[in-house]
Amino acid sequence: MPDILPEDSACMRWMEERSREIFRLFGFSEIRTPLLEDTRVFTRSIGQDTDIVEKEMYSFTDRGGKSVSLRPEGTASVIRAYIENLASGGTELVKLFYSGPMFRGERPQKGRLRQFHQIGVEIIGGKNPFIDAELIMCLDALLKNLGAGDFKIFINSIGCSGDRKAYTAKLKDYLSPLKEELCENCRRRVQSNVLRVLDCKRPRCRNTVKGAPAITDNLCKDCLDGYSTLKNILYASGIPFDEKPDLVRGLDYYTGTIFEVMHPGLGAQDAVAAGGRYDDLTADMGGPDTGATGFALGVERLMLIMDRSAVDLPSADAVVIPVDEALRADAFRLMVKFRRRGIACEMDHTGRSLKAQMRKANKEGRRFVALLGEDEARKGKVLIKDMSESAQRELAADEAIEFIKEALSVKDG
Ligand code: HAM
Repeated sequence: MPDILPEDSACMRWMEERSREIFRLFGFSEIRTPLLEDTRVFTRSIGQDTDIVEKEMYSFTDRGGKSVSLRPEGTASVIRAYIENLASGGTELVKLFYSGPMFRGERPQKGRLRQFHQIGVEIIGGKNPFIDAELIMCLDALLKNLGAGDFKIFINSIGCSGDRKAYTAKLKDYLSPLKEELCENCRRRVQSNVLRVLDCKRPRCRNTVKGAPAITDNLCKDCLDGYSTLKNILYASGIPFDEKPDLVRGLDYYTGTIFEVMHPGLGAQDAVAAGGRYDDLTADMGGPDTGATGFALGVERLMLIMDRSAVDLPSADAVVIPVDEALRADAFRLMVKFRRRGIACEMDHTGRSLKAQMRKANKEGRRFVALLGEDEARKGKVLIKDMSESAQRELAADEAIEFIKEALSVKDG
């Protein structure tokens, strides 16, 4: 579980702020759910036979003897919160976004962490394919706004629960005679949850499932119609996407349309974002029978591939430098005055030489340096250097403040 150091932290904050712009545009409100939930919230929704529940959750017994888990994802908690607080019959469309840390005890590697962050959305209360289209358009706009560059959206439909029941039987028939070719986990899953076999990453298992019947050839008319309506809306809206008939997801709650966003910078397996429809989950968790869909994007994964040039590191706009140690207290007062008027301002107290302080101010991209020498101090003035030009001005403190504020368009604070 990594520490997030200032440079990455600034980048994450920037991403969150830019995401909020997109969510406002698409009409989402924010929800914040607890990091810790009753374990059943996740086992019931994500599924007992998934990697997440079988081996990745941080679960423990609390003081009251109850099993609790750190949330491995956001959807289950959002639906739990929706049912408890917002459902009101499930007839209204509720559009929520969230961002925050998730926890999965995976083997850490590039782009795979034990504590990572997701920015996600859920739309609860409808099954119309126009909702899926809005969702995918939102994800596309979000990724563009965050400088994701060269990403590709892959979509598929895994059908409703009826389709999956029939398909599960077919897949079982196909894989049962080939059990010996599968890994130990998959052999077990042929009986317990055969769809999970399609999601196994082991080359031998992938090879074995290659000839298996495809779910897309086993969809009912409603699912096919919904899927093709979605594709038509996306075409008409100019959202590029590819169909990937063997796309499956690692969580059990999905129904109908699913999607993943891949980026060449992450390697073949690693999605930067993913999601889809999960129309049965709300009712399965005790809420109204209403459709829902959503996505989550992996913040750290996006940070590996995004263009960071637009991200501003927060740094003070001005540095006050006393030319002489004897003027440190005067310089300090000046800095305090600057800050009181809303100018982000710093001083170096480490004993660096004047030259070294100037070099540092330059390197850190400070816009203004306020030099306080004996001459200026005597006259009640300060020398303001605007680093974006070579000019410098001798100004009284109040004039300097006005000058800097105007240059930075700082509002009076
Ligand atoms: P997921 O595919 O498990 O879906 O995760 C979504 C994204 O989170 C992934 O595409 C990836 O970018 C990121 N991610 C997942 N695990 C890790 C990890 N260990 N380290 C770094 N990043 C990771 C979900 O979580 C669903 N709740 C998405 C969803 C929302 N479906 C419907 N609504």
